[in-house]
Amino acid sequence: MKKDFLRLAELSREELAHLLDRAAWWKAHRTDAAAPRPLAGKSVALLFDKASTRTRVSLEVAAAELGGRAIFASGRDSQLGRGEPPEDTARVLSRMVHAVCIRTFSHEWLERFARAATIPVVNALTDLTHPLQLLADLLVLRERFGRTEGLKVAWIGDGNNVAHAFIEAAPLAGFELSLACPAGYLPDGAALAWARERGARVQVVDDPRAAARGAHALVTDVWASMGQEAEQAARKQAFAGYCVDESLLEAALPEAIVLHCLPAHRGEEISAAAIDGPRSAVWDEAENRLHTSKALLESLLRN
Ligand code: CP
Ligand code: NVA
Repeated sequence: MKKDFLRLAELSREELAHLLDRAAWWKAHRTDAAAPRPLAGKSVALLFDKASTRTRVSLEVAAAELGGRAIFASGRDSQLGRGEPPEDTARVLSRMVHAVCIRTFSHEWLERFARAATIPVVNALTDLTHPLQLLADLLVLRERFGRTEGLKVAWIGDGNNVAHAFIEAAPLAGFELSLACPAGYLPDGAALAWARERGARVQVVDDPRAAARGAHALVTDVWASMGQEAEQAARKQAFAGYCVDESLLEAALPEAIVLHCLPAHRGEEISAAAIDGPRSAVWDEAENRLHTSKALLESLLRN
């Protein structure tokens, strides 16, 4: 049976740990000419209805380095932007390519596509969650601390798609998660309930310093995600004080790192000193998008 990658909640702890092991292996063997080519003769379609730099490039390079090829289509230059039903596109692409990676707004649309497809479907970001990002973030945590279990991660800012991916990762990777979000911008209650039922320590607070206290990682993201551009001004007001900066880093552990999925707005959710300073792990985090994408495509297309 085909396997999709729509949200982390669909993975077991063992599957997640295996993906991270394989990503570390691919990272260590990047220049190994004898490395396997599990995508030889295979094609992956990338259907992107929102902008992307890292996700698009990492998936295209991952497919190529695994011996396959990627075909990119945006909403503007495909029939997706003109309203072709997800089921029709899914049935057609299932007869042409071996996997599809989709970046779009509605998670429900992605689920409809995945139900109709007979090939693996990968979530390359929806309004609900961004699971590919978390693979890279978890790999950085492993690299910097040797583990993810028992760490404390502080999320500062919007309870958005990346926050939801952190919430779903918490019970699978065994870290404590403290989210500081202003009223009106809290994460999805169902994701929180899911993580807590699985024994995760996940708290939502409104004080960034309380979340940051004793944390191994301070994580943030833009205040207005793609599709929320009209709310930019209102959000700027609501999120005042929710900036990952050097003073917030003082509340965290001395060895704490700073993470941001990028793109970042310096002077809003993160200070230039924090993102460009010695505690920043964002460039390793971005690089890890490539290695983790290789591990994921390999696992979905192995056979
Ligand atoms: N972090 C991330 O998904 O970046 P892009 O929007 O550039 O793909
Ligand atoms: N929350 C951001 C993440 C971008 C990678 C967005 O959805 O725009």
